[in-house]
Amino acid sequence: MAHLPTPAPHEAVHLIEDPETGLHGVIAIHSTALGPAAGGCRLWQYDDDAAMLADALRLARGMSYKNALAGLPFGGGKAVIRMPATLPSRARLFAAFGRAVAGLGGAYVTAEDVGTTTADMAEVRAKTRFVAGLPARPGQAGGDPSPWTALGVFVAMEAAARSLGTGLSGLRVAVQGVGQVGAALCTLLHEAGARLVVADADAARAAAVAARFGADMVSPGAIIAADADIFAPCALGGALDRQTIAALRARLVCGAANNQLATPEDGARLAERGILYAPDYVANAGGIINVAAEYLGEAADAVEARVRAIGPRMALILVRAGECGETPAAVADAMAEAIMAEGRAGLGRTGLAA
Ligand code: NAI
Repeated sequence: MAHLPTPAPHEAVHLIEDPETGLHGVIAIHSTALGPAAGGCRLWQYDDDAAMLADALRLARGMSYKNALAGLPFGGGKAVIRMPATLPSRARLFAAFGRAVAGLGGAYVTAEDVGTTTADMAEVRAKTRFVAGLPARPGQAGGDPSPWTALGVFVAMEAAARSLGTGLSGLRVAVQGVGQVGAALCTLLHEAGARLVVADADAARAAAVAARFGADMVSPGAIIAADADIFAPCALGGALDRQTIAALRARLVCGAANNQLATPEDGARLAERGILYAPDYVANAGGIINVAAEYLGEAADAVEARVRAIGPRMALILVRAGECGETPAAVADAMAEAIMAEGRAGLGRTGLAA
């Protein structure tokens, strides 16, 4: 496995290649300060290697911050594989990937991500034990992380709403994207008495969710400016940019999507408009909390308390942001960086670990 020049602050970037199976990708390790670098494996059609590398570096860094603030004993990493022009055997591709992960001796722990499945991870598991995201065994943590991600977003939203002096009951929440996480979030919001307005690129999916919860349905283009108290981005990243922020009518943003801010300046743009932003990687950590518990061989009932701890954590970040006049995103980043700087001992002392 070749080592590529590693741009700071990442620790390592490994080129993973196996011409026989079409494997061509990178494993980026941002930080192992808190433990093995954990982050999923993405299979995607990139225009070129530069785009693939940039994505791996950005995602690996994001995982370090997410894992640190979730109080998990893991650093941040990410594997990215370029979708080959022809893929004769998916099983052999992931077996080759598994060998590459094994070659890192535990510095990196993989899992499923966009474009990969539990079946792919089962192929990886045949080659290495440094993998999670496998089908759950009875009583053990594991399985679909989406309901846990939805619960984390829900408790984060409750905490953020409370910081605005209100509960969720009676509030109107605009949910952008009602896939695995968005639909599960709608269930929790409906049970809490919130009113819903939903949109999805897949109109039939949005219609089904709208019918189930008596929600309003709007087109994907109209959800940003929907008449709502809270905007919940649960589709793709980059939903918040100069244009969409100008159109937002909600006073709180809290959702599941990764990298919701198109640029760091968009955090300030939200603040200038008086819109409270619940940092994405704090709110959406429920899935990785479940995956981490699976990897560590923990029981299923260890997961819920840790996911519910996202609520008080979000409240703390919002209080600190209010006190020091920084954006919540900047406060979350600074807290994560402080935990990483302190190393594993810092996880217990921050009071962040559940
Ligand atoms: P999903 O693929 O099941 O759902 C995404 C939904 O968004 C789909 O229904 C899709 O049709 C819709 N969509 C795409 N573009 C849209 C647009 N422009 N407007 C409206 N709808 C659009 O994905 P999932 O698993 O629900 O994840 C949602 C987001 O949360 C993603 O950004 C993901 O990276 C993030 N996330 C998911 C976690 C999980 O546990 N599944 C964990 C952490 C983050």
